Amino acid sequence: MNVIIRPLTQDDRAWVREFIAQRWGAAIVVSRGIAHQPDELAGFVALDKGERVGLVTCDITDDACEIVTLDSTRPNVGVGTKLIRAVKDFARRAGCRRVWAITTNDNLSALRFYQKRGFALVAIYRNAVEQSRKLKPTIPLIGNDGIPVRDEIKVEHAL
Ligand SMILES: CC(C)(COP(=O)(O)OP(=O)(O)OC[C@H]1O[C@@H](n2cnc3c(N)ncnc32)[C@H](O)[C@@H]1OP(=O)(O)O)[C@@H](O)C(=O)NCCC(=O)NCCS
Repeated sequence: MNVIIRPLTQDDRAWVREFIAQRWGAAIVVSRGIAHQPDELAGFVALDKGERVGLVTCDITDDACEIVTLDSTRPNVGVGTKLIRAVKDFARRAGCRRVWAITTNDNLSALRFYQKRGFALVAIYRNAVEQSRKLKPTIPLIGNDGIPVRDEIKVEHAL
């Protein structure tokens, strides 16, 4: 599959809002107690013959780039890997020294995915999702594989 990655533009915003709401249960995403609005962030979209098949959004603070969302609708053909590569290049060019992301304890496939791409598990914030639910009540109690969604796990990649 010939996937092209390009930066998000203003014209993608409505799609980003809808895509995130559909994938994550609301137009906002919460990490470390902060409600992010992905449609207002920088990011990259993956295109297959003009169709959007993946999205990554990110937020730079000081010398660190947070991956706020990462989604692929065409699993296992390299979309996620290409999006991660695009963010790392973007962060490097912006002078960042690290890229990091928050995932939840039930998201074993994300933990596997990130670790196989050079990210390390650097922190566990126990019961942090309880706080997140105050900002985003649609976060389910039970997540992937029937695992209770409780903790935030921080993964990080030095640049
Ligand atoms: C995590 C996620 C983004 C990965 O996206 P993806 O597009 O499936 O990622 P890739 O295709 O690049 O890699 C997935 C697997 O496919 C394999 N793969 C990649 N290209 C391939 C190809 N051309 N042929 C065969 N297999 C391939 C990879 O080896 C990889 O397996 P590995 O992790 O064991 O190395 C996706 O599963 C997703 O959207 N998850 C839900 C949202 C989420 O949890 N996001 C992360 C937390 S914020």
